[in-house]
Amino acid sequence: MSASDTRLLLRTALAETTERLGRAEVPSPSVDARALIAAAAGTRQPLVMLDELPAGFARELEELTRRRERREPLQLILGRAPFRRLMLTVRPGVFIPRPETELALDLLREHATGAVETVVDLCTGSGALAASVLDEFPQARVLAVEIDTAAASLARENLERAGPGRGRVLQADLTARLPGGVPAQEGPLAELEAAAGVDAILSNPPYIPPEAVPRDAEVLEHDPHCALFGGGADGLEVPRAVISWASHLLRPGGLLVMEHADVQGRSAREAAALIGGFDHLSTAPDLTGRDRFLVARRADGAPNPGSERLTR
Ligand SMILES: C[S@@+](CC[C@H](N)C(=O)[O-])C[C@H]1O[C@@H](n2cnc3c(N)ncnc32)[C@H](O)[C@@H]1O
Repeated sequence: MSASDTRLLLRTALAETTERLGRAEVPSPSVDARALIAAAAGTRQPLVMLDELPAGFARELEELTRRRERREPLQLILGRAPFRRLMLTVRPGVFIPRPETELALDLLREHATGAVETVVDLCTGSGALAASVLDEFPQARVLAVEIDTAAASLARENLERAGPGRGRVLQADLTARLPGGVPAQEGPLAELEAAAGVDAILSNPPYIPPEAVPRDAEVLEHDPHCALFGGGADGLEVPRAVISWASHLLRPGGLLVMEHADVQGRSAREAAALIGGFDHLSTAPDLTGRDRFLVARRADGAPNPGSERLTR
């Protein structure tokens, strides 16, 4: 096939695929069509750079298009998701990292005081935040915690690629016990507790309240429910556990940056005030101006907070 025949075929494929995805109400049909065509062609280059197509291109594109028409997320079809400077591996059953979460790294840079050399990522999922810390803070070591076996194993892969030998993933339920009481003798939470004195904690925990069911099929049918719903009437049970762990694990002056829903700014600050141990609490907006992150600094010499004050 000549180069001009290839271009004609690509133009037709782009028009038809975009139209089919549009009919399936995919939110960005043209962008997704380009990505599917590139995947079917086995390239990551722009389509205009293609002079020839592999055998089986049409069959492969048809299969990928059908999957996207059924609203399978593009990232799962491609097996990867961009996050800051990284291309992360993603897999079915594990939460797909979102662009809005990327801002947590900028907030860390903006608000951290002193060194950022030991960092904990609570509820790490695919390891997006932890891997980005390893990538962007070359001196840092990261401990990541995740409840789900498949996500923990995926996070290990992503962390090892981003910062070989500098990341560790613990599989544990952060709500199983809270810090501050009699320390656990063994197991992943004992190891987490022993890490106390860290410079920063990043977290994008589940936080959706039970009645706020996501509308997009991509989210509802493909993100695991334990990655979405935070527990309790307000969706803040897991976030409260995150704050409690942060209050225990951070060194004086250490920073917590935790994502939450745009209506939860005040509740998140109140939860942190109630749990105690912080001397600076604020809410940071995302790029669209909506309140999306709790920023909390561990107080100097504050007494160790009591876990009994955490409402669960
Ligand atoms: C919203 S996802 C975020 C994943 C990742 N931080 C990101 O931004 O892409 C929340 C993650 O928290 C995990 N998770 C939920 N409850 C947890 C718990 N009690 N302890 C530890 N991890 C938990 C879920 O399995 C999920 O991977």
